[in-house]
Amino acid sequence: MRNIKSEIAAILAEKVEGLSVAEIEGFIEIPVDKNNGDYAFPCFRLAKLLRKAPPLIAADIAEGIRGSELFAKVENVNAYVNMFIDKEALARITIGAVVAEKDRFGRSNTGGGKTVIVEFSSPNIAKPFHIGHIRSTVIGNSIYKLYDFIGYNVVRINHLGDYGTQFGKMITAYRHWGSKEDVEREPIKTLLGYYVRFHKEAEADPALDDEARETFTKLEHGAQEETELWQWFRSESLKEFSRVYGMLGIEFDSYAGESFYSNKMPAVLQELKDDGLLIESQGAQIVDLEPYGLGAALITKSDGSSLYITRDIAAAIYRKQTYDFHKNIYVVASQQNLHFQQWFKILELMGKTWAKDCVHVPFGLVSLEDGTMSTREGRVVFLEDVLNKAVEKTAEIILEKGVNTDNVEETARAVGIGAVMFQELSNGRIKDYTFSWDKVLNFDGETGPYVQYTHARAASVLRNAQFDPASFDPASMDLAAACGESAYELVKLLYRFPEVVLDAAGKYEPSVVTRHIVDIAQAFNKFYHDEHIIVPDETEKNAKLMLTYAAKQVIANGLGLLGIKAPEKM
Ligand code: ARG
Repeated sequence: MRNIKSEIAAILAEKVEGLSVAEIEGFIEIPVDKNNGDYAFPCFRLAKLLRKAPPLIAADIAEGIRGSELFAKVENVNAYVNMFIDKEALARITIGAVVAEKDRFGRSNTGGGKTVIVEFSSPNIAKPFHIGHIRSTVIGNSIYKLYDFIGYNVVRINHLGDYGTQFGKMITAYRHWGSKEDVEREPIKTLLGYYVRFHKEAEADPALDDEARETFTKLEHGAQEETELWQWFRSESLKEFSRVYGMLGIEFDSYAGESFYSNKMPAVLQELKDDGLLIESQGAQIVDLEPYGLGAALITKSDGSSLYITRDIAAAIYRKQTYDFHKNIYVVASQQNLHFQQWFKILELMGKTWAKDCVHVPFGLVSLEDGTMSTREGRVVFLEDVLNKAVEKTAEIILEKGVNTDNVEETARAVGIGAVMFQELSNGRIKDYTFSWDKVLNFDGETGPYVQYTHARAASVLRNAQFDPASFDPASMDLAAACGESAYELVKLLYRFPEVVLDAAGKYEPSVVTRHIVDIAQAFNKFYHDEHIIVPDETEKNAKLMLTYAAKQVIANGLGLLGIKAPEKM
């Protein structure tokens, strides 16, 4: 799409000597008070250069640029040139771009094909995929889509928690109380039961903890029986995870989890040793990060077993070698802030100059209405149950409301699952929130169903009018009717969509997109209520339908970036 700010800079550059187009563009402001125009150019900086008072310079420039078709009005007020964009010009640029680019509207090649890794979801094997994991999964998926949209080559990695001392516990528990049939019938819930029982019984009988530790050491050394059990837990868990990813429409390029790095650990330890970073402490090995206010990082335990942090270091080194990433992004809960600070610092101390390209994107905690979740105590809400319940409840609402759809089941899935995803992406990611059924499935207000419904409403207007945008040319058609008060508010929001996408990606903050499409949906609904779209006057009707088409397309593009479907009927 044509970029108005850059075009203004080019227009100004012809009248301003001594400054480059880029410099001028940097000085252009967007006034808070709309009485000062849509764009303003301050002339203070030119005074010295031109040896003239700023207000005189502003007057000269204003006079010089008045003729451009981009402007409805140009004023000079004190040292400022205030520019008012011609509404129809903006409508033409915006609608023209949406019609031409369709589902690519908002795309750019900002990334120039550079590789970005987004690591997200990363649940733990043999443990429930619970509501706490949805945040990383849904936010990470959207960050992937954003970076893909702006021209990066994105690799999606699921760093499965498929290794570590908890598997010693799991195997021990299974050996004491397990039943193969139970596990096969209902793997994760059964395994969770063993895990909960282990922690209860280990409180009274610490010998169980010793047994679990020994079992894990055996696993680390490749003992056959332990390895087979572990592999079985892993494949049963993956089956469940895949089901959930399928429901969410999420895929990964790699499932290289923690276990993948177990044979890469010795090299890392050697490197740390060669760099003089490892310190022996009561049989364990640590890196002292006290000088950086980050405490001590435990690298191997006294029994020699490797740790979570060591696997993260090995994984980052492997990823740099394998993908030569421009950025390596981790979408992981803010509870792990210290963990990431520690090992990013260790990479830096190892002389990895690319440590600065590793980014932790944290997010806040999900809690239940009656307290926080705890896997150990078995207090969890399974993600799959949440999604199924959302679909079920949505189907009820659809039938009750007599929603217009050809396929209740399909619409209920798109809307119910979309509602859960949308709510995850509605607030700034760092905010903690409490999971509540009432909120997730509230179909009024700033929710997924509201935005999807708006999309379907626009689709229905276009359908009823049998409107085909291809039969019109936005470059030459009369768009005055897309410039009425509420119509023009909508045009302005649509124009900003590509900027919003870049902003969201730069901040790793999908909620920027979420909020923007809520704004667009609200603006479209206002336009729909304020104006009659299907009017006898053909010129007016076509301009309004064109705007409706553009609004529908941009809402769909925004929902797509969140990983949410945009139903045609609802
Ligand atoms: N498996 C971990 C958990 O569920 C998250 C892994 C985060 N990623 C990482 N590279 N450390 O808590």
